[in-house]
Amino acid sequence: MVGQVLFLITIFMGFAFCSGRCSDVYTRSDFPKGFLFGSAFSAFQWEGAVDEDGRKPSIWDSFVNSDAGPPFVIDCDGYHKYKEDVRLMYDMGLDAFRLSISWPRLIPSGRGPVNPKGLRFYKNLLNELTRHGIEPHVTLYHNDLPQVLEDEYGGWIDRKIIDDFTAFADVCFREFGNSVKLWSTVNEPNMLAMGGYDLGASAPKPYIALHNMLLAHASVARLYKQKYKEKQNGSVGITCFAHWMVPFTSSEEDNIATQRAKDFSLGWVMHPLVFGDYPEAMKNIVGKRLPSFSKEESDLVKDSSDFLGIIHYTTLCVAHKSKSRNKDYLSDMRASLIPDRFIISFSWTAFGNSTFIKFDVLPWGLEELLEYIKQNYGNPPVYILENGRPTNHYSSLNDVERVEYLHAYIAAVLNSVRNGSETRGYFQWSFMDLYEFLSYNHTYGLYYVNFSDPERKRSPKTSALWYTAFLKGKTQEPMNLTLSSSSGFSTQ
Ligand SMILES: *[C@@H]1O[C@H](CO)[C@@H](O)[C@H](O)[C@H]1NC(C)=O
Ligand SMILES: *[C@@H]1O[C@H](CO)[C@@H](O)[C@H](O)[C@H]1NC(C)=O
Ligand SMILES: *[C@@H]1O[C@H](CO)[C@@H](O)[C@H](O)[C@H]1NC(C)=O
Ligand SMILES: *[C@@H]1O[C@H](CO)[C@@H](O)[C@H](O)[C@H]1NC(C)=O
Ligand SMILES: *[C@@H]1O[C@H](CO)[C@@H](O)[C@H](O)[C@H]1NC(C)=O
Ligand SMILES: *[C@@H]1O[C@H](CO)[C@@H](O)[C@H](O)[C@H]1NC(C)=O
Repeated sequence: MVGQVLFLITIFMGFAFCSGRCSDVYTRSDFPKGFLFGSAFSAFQWEGAVDEDGRKPSIWDSFVNSDAGPPFVIDCDGYHKYKEDVRLMYDMGLDAFRLSISWPRLIPSGRGPVNPKGLRFYKNLLNELTRHGIEPHVTLYHNDLPQVLEDEYGGWIDRKIIDDFTAFADVCFREFGNSVKLWSTVNEPNMLAMGGYDLGASAPKPYIALHNMLLAHASVARLYKQKYKEKQNGSVGITCFAHWMVPFTSSEEDNIATQRAKDFSLGWVMHPLVFGDYPEAMKNIVGKRLPSFSKEESDLVKDSSDFLGIIHYTTLCVAHKSKSRNKDYLSDMRASLIPDRFIISFSWTAFGNSTFIKFDVLPWGLEELLEYIKQNYGNPPVYILENGRPTNHYSSLNDVERVEYLHAYIAAVLNSVRNGSETRGYFQWSFMDLYEFLSYNHTYGLYYVNFSDPERKRSPKTSALWYTAFLKGKTQEPMNLTLSSSSGFSTQ
């Protein structure tokens, strides 16, 4: 309770970014009945308590503890503060919350005995959510593979993962299925396969890893249908990392490259789920290095997802790149991905106004993405499972740029829903500042978390107050909002 300062935040929004296409003025009641508004975090990024109560390391712990990891501990200590956090979610007015279950906390050895203390923790957390009327959306795998399985067989590149993952999911469905109706299997397999297994080498690792992720997802979905669906009546889907892509120039080459890049990213996951096979463009270019589906596998994967979870942050430009001798995933795509439509020159550190950790507000990109999914993949039910904007962790609580982004992107979702997209929920990333993989100094939270405070104090940013006002039915319009908050460390 240090420094109880009452301060006023004045937001003035220009709202020039909609350029006439998206709704500037909307309220929550403009969305269909049953549409879920939520927020999110994942187990590893929020829980802390990595050595407690029988949890064993995941591959993420190993990364954090390596030279590439951050020089100090970053966690929210959610393992001990879950009641307080659920209370904040409740006060915000969230319908739903996306979280994940840590495999190495629940089944520390990857397979075999369940850790009773891990089991108790997730039961308590889920009870706390449902007791407050918040619907949990549970991701089974959010990048935290038990290190022991990585050591034993290399994780996702070995088919053994399919049985181990299915057995882990079986425990989750059995133990938590009465309070969970929405399950996602693997978080952004396309990003994971590219980021985790594409080392620029000629080995077809990303293709094999993703193939196994799809088979593991489908195996888990089948298990749910056969064993749990009738009693528990939930849905099982997968998530997909989905930047929108537009051609860098109007040249035919760039147009074709853009379609190719969509096939290599979104299509890599969506084609098998909808059509039972990889996109033609991938099969032609990657050839034998792309695993092929047997008839049985194809039938298993096709239609195995009850919904599609979309992870969307920004829009990239795509420029044609000619064939190279390299045989890695990005070379196969034959495209340069550039995070800004309007740039003239680019480098790895700064692309126009956007960088990997600073996104422009391009809400039309999300609209076009949802339209593309509607038109090309049979308009499946969609949940936006991540969308948000990073800011420097150490900057002001007055995160007007985050409010600007969320306002515009939620409006884009509304436009898409009005035009027939089956989008059923929007989960902002992230509820609080978390350990972020790409750049730990850039966080997405509605709540600031002081990582150097042993209490890990949470403080609402302007975006938390804005989202609360929206969820409580206030009109979202170009406005001067005056809000008050009980704490702050840097006002402007
Ligand atoms: C099952 O869930 C669907 C929505 O997913 C709902 O419409 C239906 O009423 C539920 N049925 C039962 C028996 O709970
Ligand atoms: C990039 O920044 C310039 C200068 O501030 C601005 O005029 C332009 O609109 C920005 N581009 C985008 C896509 O926001
Ligand atoms: C709205 O949906 C129609 C029919 O699917 C489509 O033709 C049109 O392009 C969509 N409009 C936008 C702005 O996406
Ligand atoms: C992160 O921010 C801290 C505090 O401002 C700074 O000391 C550190 O150098 C930054 N690290 C990176 C990788 O930018
Ligand atoms: C974070 O916590 C530390 C330790 O309690 C404190 O010294 C520091 O002032 C806090 N920082 C902010 C921004 O509140
Ligand atoms: C918003 O506030 C600014 C600064 O206080 C003021 O100049 C402007 O006229 C206000 N705009 C509206 C629409 O009230």
